[in-house]
Amino acid sequence: MDQTQVIDPNNTAEIHKMLAESGYSEKAIDYFLQKPYMGDLPDADQISQMVGSCGDTMGIYLKVEAGVIQDARYQVLGCPGAIASAMAAVDLVKGKSIPEARKLTDGDIFRLLEEIPPKKHHCIQLAVKTLQKALDEYEHKVR
Ligand code: FES
Repeated sequence: MDQTQVIDPNNTAEIHKMLAESGYSEKAIDYFLQKPYMGDLPDADQISQMVGSCGDTMGIYLKVEAGVIQDARYQVLGCPGAIASAMAAVDLVKGKSIPEARKLTDGDIFRLLEEIPPKKHHCIQLAVKTLQKALDEYEHKVR
């Protein structure tokens, strides 16, 4: 008999348990399960994309008005750590000026997430690098 355990993607209780046992905090699990900023912005002023060292991909959509990030969304083809990090990044940069958003660090996201497994820290870096790339490309365009 096949002993492989298949997790039902709709069974949030099972997913929650598995992530908690892997070292994700309640906060990180909430961001992953709720995905509050996953998707696109039809009227985005900047769309950028980045592929991480692991091969996972993030796209970011920024709405910028008068130099302030009004809204942002991420599209993430990646792991729970990547999704939680991207969602936390939006909460940290929404309403911030571009220079303020540029100061976002991996540590800021880690503090907001409270805990994710150590081998997932590069997922936080991918969220930050994707944002920085979008800010670079946006500023290059409007300069
Ligand atoms: Fe690739 Fe998390 S494993 S971003």
